[in-house]
Amino acid sequence: MKAVRFHSYGGPEVLKIEEIDVPEPGPGQVRIAVRAAGVNPIDWKLRAGYMREMMPIPLPAGSGFDAAGVIDAVGDGVSGVSVGDAVFGKGHHTMAEYAILQEWALKPDGLSFEEAAGFAVAVETAARIIDQVGVKRGETLLVSGAAGGVGSAVIQLARAAGIRTIGTASEPKHAYLRSLGAIPTTYGPGLAGRVAALAPEGVQAALDIAGSGIIQELVAITGGDPSRVLSITDPTAPQHGVKTSFEPKDSTQALAGAAALFTAGSFTLPVERVFPLDRIAAAHELSAQGHVTGRLVITID
Ligand SMILES: NC(=O)c1ccc[n+]([C@@H]2O[C@H](COP(=O)([O-])OP(=O)(O)OC[C@H]3O[C@@H](n4cnc5c(N)ncnc54)[C@H](OP(=O)(O)O)[C@@H]3O)[C@@H](O)[C@H]2O)c1
Repeated sequence: MKAVRFHSYGGPEVLKIEEIDVPEPGPGQVRIAVRAAGVNPIDWKLRAGYMREMMPIPLPAGSGFDAAGVIDAVGDGVSGVSVGDAVFGKGHHTMAEYAILQEWALKPDGLSFEEAAGFAVAVETAARIIDQVGVKRGETLLVSGAAGGVGSAVIQLARAAGIRTIGTASEPKHAYLRSLGAIPTTYGPGLAGRVAALAPEGVQAALDIAGSGIIQELVAITGGDPSRVLSITDPTAPQHGVKTSFEPKDSTQALAGAAALFTAGSFTLPVERVFPLDRIAAAHELSAQGHVTGRLVITID
């Protein structure tokens, strides 16, 4: 099968499309014929070698952590799905004609393979960090970096849980944030004042998704309590008493929940751009610029 691979860390040019063996699903796994795979910032960070201390990977390596496609083989102990089912989920090396998924949900009929491909990493991360930051129904959550994949999922999962969100993005993306259910504001100097004007009763929790070095500002905005702030990007956060979250959790329930919300008309992760597999380097470059709205995906013919 064709698969994206890289043999050394480096720029996008190290990404190659190679012929490799089709992987076999282990116990509790399924194999899909991939129709589309999500592009996540972790993909280019791993490829560039930025994660080699935290997440060492054997080289040559594949790329991609989420995908949507049609099940073509089922491992031992798998129940509830069978060959021919359309699913989306989390796996490894999903930028390939076939990929193994560890966690999945049935793809709703009205959800395209392209959009479904971008669900898993964003939904798993969003569900985990809403839970870990400890924000409750009726409270207000500040989302720093709200217009990308994770932020878009956070806003909608929070709304479904009765949590109000204020999300930061550049001005042209404010209508997009509003469409997902957030109150938008711009990032940059003066954030505390803008948030105070939007939420005079205060903000009970904050998520640092953008990793733009504003941990202390977020602590001040949430009333000075660092336990109400969580970062998924800033390894220096603990120096300020702020939790980080880097370990994925089992996402089976969260993926099924997002599928149900999609069917109910209250969850969507718009795809900004679709690339064919052989344009993977361009997809990494665009992701690395840091201004994607919603998701980027690659498709497999
Ligand atoms: N720890 C974990 O478990 C975990 C899991 C998933 C992702 N992550 C990390 O979380 C980060 C976000 O992931 P993602 O998939 O959401 O990325 P993404 O889709 O690439 O996010 C892009 C968005 O970030 C916004 N942005 C850029 N600079 C900003 C700033 N200074 N303030 C506020 N927003 C800003 C952009 O909005 P504008 O265009 O308006 O600037 C853009 O819409 C990445 O660094 C990723 O590696 C961590």
